[in-house]
Parts: sequence; C-alpha cells; structure tokens
Amino acid sequence: MLQNLKNRWMVSGLNLVFIICTFAIGGSLCGYAGRRILELTEIKNEFVWIASYIILVSLLWPLCVLLISIPFGQFSFFKNYLLKIWLSITGNKTPVVHIAIFASGAGSNAQKIIDKFKNNRLIKVSLIVCNKYGAGVLSIANRENIPFLLIDKTHFLNAGAYVSELKKNKIDFIVLAGFLWKIPPALIKAFPNKIINIHPALLPKYGGKGMYGSRVHEAVLEAGEKESGITIHYVDELYDHGRVIFQSTCNISPTDTTETLAQKVHELEHMHYPRVVEEIIQNTR
Ligand code: GRF
Repeated sequence: MLQNLKNRWMVSGLNLVFIICTFAIGGSLCGYAGRRILELTEIKNEFVWIASYIILVSLLWPLCVLLISIPFGQFSFFKNYLLKIWLSITGNKTPVVHIAIFASGAGSNAQKIIDKFKNNRLIKVSLIVCNKYGAGVLSIANRENIPFLLIDKTHFLNAGAYVSELKKNKIDFIVLAGFLWKIPPALIKAFPNKIINIHPALLPKYGGKGMYGSRVHEAVLEAGEKESGITIHYVDELYDHGRVIFQSTCNISPTDTTETLAQKVHELEHMHYPRVVEEIIQNTR
C-alpha cells in the first residue's frame, strides 16, 4: 500500500513519511482546534454540536495540514493536493497541460507518449523540439500533425534556451525522450520540476556525460550486471542526476547482447514512460 502511494504521488520514501505525518498531525490538530472552538460556544444540542463540529473541522482541515506541511517541507505537495480537491468540488474546468517532447532520435518513446495523450482533453503533446535535421521524430511530428522546433546549439546553450518560444507555445511540461544536449540553467529555471528524462539503465549507475544509446548497454554487459532497466528522473543541471521518480528492471541473461538488452529496455520504456508522465502531470497540476 505504501508503495502504491509512493508511485501514485511520485514521492520518495522519506517524503511519503513526511506526508503521512502531516496528514496525521494536521488531522489531530484540526480535531483538537474544532473541539476547543466549540467549547467557547453555548451549543448544548447534541445534533447541532456534531453538525457544527463537522462543518468546522472541514473548514479547519486544509488550514491545519497546510500549516503542518511547512516544517515537514511538504507545502507544495499539499497546496497542489488541496487545489485538486477544490477543483473537483467546485467542478471547475482544469486547464489543459501542454507538453513539449525534446527528442532527436527515432522517437519511439515520443510516439508512445503522443499515442497516450491523443484523446486526452487535459494533456496535450503540443510541440516536438529536436536538434537533428532528419531525425525520425520529425517524421512522427509531421505524421501526427504536431508542430516542431528545430533548435540550434549555440542559441540553446547560450542565448535563452528557447524559453520564449516554449512559452509562446504555452508549454507547461517538458519530456526528454532521447535528447542528448545538457539542459541549460535558463530552461531549468523557467520550468522548475517540470522537466523529466528517461535513462536506459538503473541510475546512478551507467549515467553521466557520454552515456547514451548502446554505450550504456555495452557498459552494463561489460560489468557483468545481472539486471538493467530504466530510470525516469527530474532533470537538473547535471547529466542523469536529478531526483529519481521511477525505476523498473529487467533481467540480463548470459546470452544477451547490446541489441537484445536495448530491446528489453525499450520495452520497459514504452510500457512505463507515458503512464509515469501522466501521473506526474496529474499530481502536479
Ligand atoms: C531511449 O532509450 C531513452 O532511454 C534515451 O534515448 C532513447 C530514445 O529512444 N534517453 P527513442 O528515440 O525514443 O526510440
């Protein structure tokens, strides 16, 4: 059950402990405060007292958990959590989240993500960003009728990181799927906790500069690992370094080659990446 919650809320084990503590302490605080407030009133009738208590506790609960979440460092989680409850109670329309996929290879992950959100009214793949003319992902963009942006390295790294173009396209969330350039600080600053990447191995092993594509699988096989897998993680200013969101493993058999391992890993990527993207967006909207 705890694992389910961890996956559902996309939080680390420690954050889950803090979140549970916040719920527990916030809930007790609100019950206590509700009783103390009612003690100050003259309400004698049991039915009126219970009804007032329920109303009071419902009003106090969000305030109490928000307050308690601060020392536990969980304010932003609870702010989003309460906002979601509020939107579902009021029936307010949730705005569409626009994704940009950064990819420069064949684009098989991009295709899976596009397929996942094709009929989704709340999440839309709105832009493909690519640094390689002729990359397979550009044909996918054409076929799927998704606008694309071909980017230039100097401009990307040293002159604004295309933030204004992304904002112009109303991009809210960035998914890297086979994008090899380092993400510049300007982009990370413009999209805090809104850029994720997938790496074809179990980080922190076999990551870092130059570790991409078949090089990763070669290194894993050379090291005689018994398993490999995928890591989905937030992007920070270092290669393959941000907080891990999700990992899944596959066994390596003695007969595996770079190609067969790559295929196993790709299968895991296709199975999990679109789903994890959706969960992160749902949990942070
Ligand atoms: C994937 O293996 C992913 O892990 C890595 O780049 C590769 C992209 O493959 N970041 P594809 O272009 O999506 O097929």
